[in-house]
Amino acid sequence: MQNLPIGIFDSGIGGLTVAHALKEKLPNESIIYFGDTEHLPYGEKSAEALRNYSKKITQFLLEKNCKCIVIACNSASSVAFDVVKKTVKNIPVFNVIDPVIEKVSNSCNSCKVGVIGTKATISSNIYKNKLNAKCPRAVVTALATPLLAPMIEEKFIGGDISKKIIANYLSNKKLQEIDQLILACTHYPLIYKEIRDYFKGEVIIINSTNIVAEHIASGLKNKTLLNNQFKPKYKFYVSNYTKAFEKSARFFFQEKIKLREANIWN
Ligand code: DGL
Repeated sequence: MQNLPIGIFDSGIGGLTVAHALKEKLPNESIIYFGDTEHLPYGEKSAEALRNYSKKITQFLLEKNCKCIVIACNSASSVAFDVVKKTVKNIPVFNVIDPVIEKVSNSCNSCKVGVIGTKATISSNIYKNKLNAKCPRAVVTALATPLLAPMIEEKFIGGDISKKIIANYLSNKKLQEIDQLILACTHYPLIYKEIRDYFKGEVIIINSTNIVAEHIASGLKNKTLLNNQFKPKYKFYVSNYTKAFEKSARFFFQEKIKLREANIWN
């Protein structure tokens, strides 16, 4: 069981930021990644659609004998965690939201916490509900920032256009005087530096990738599921292959990778 791969999925290639953090943290682990590029962006989809996609992808990863499932997408984590848990029954399932809530709730009493993410994540209210359940005195304000994921996919990063779009969102009055900002989308670690610079170091920026990787590492350790062989294999699937995605995937994973197409919807 220990030597089986970790199954990870996202709407597309955003979750590769999580996969990369996991690879750094657990270099012995094999990974099977599924990017649902056919249904991208998840942020614009209904909760019901996200639950259906997540269930199907989980079944695909189970057929590949994964020892655990990582939902490396905030949009799917916010509405499909229970469905995925029901689908797998007896292996661990990790989402990208709970580890961040755990971390932030240790330091947010009486704080003002901002959250930015897709429309699906923000309209679910999951960050506010979960944070306030642990930290009732925290003031949590959330803002949907739907242009950021496509902007990042198009690699508009570190230039005038991204600076203006980021400033336009971050100057929203919902985010005034925040102490911490949660990047609630697995695309956003790629613009971490620009967001940090916008706030001139006055706001703590919560980048979830390392937090999530730590959480998965200790979850697997507790269940004695860590791999003890140093022969990891990485496989990357997308539901709709294009060369452009393969190129972007390299940028998200920070290493060259080969994408395979898997049509799992029939
Ligand atoms: N990476 C996805 C997330 O964390 C967002 C991208 C999308 O809208 O598909 O929510």
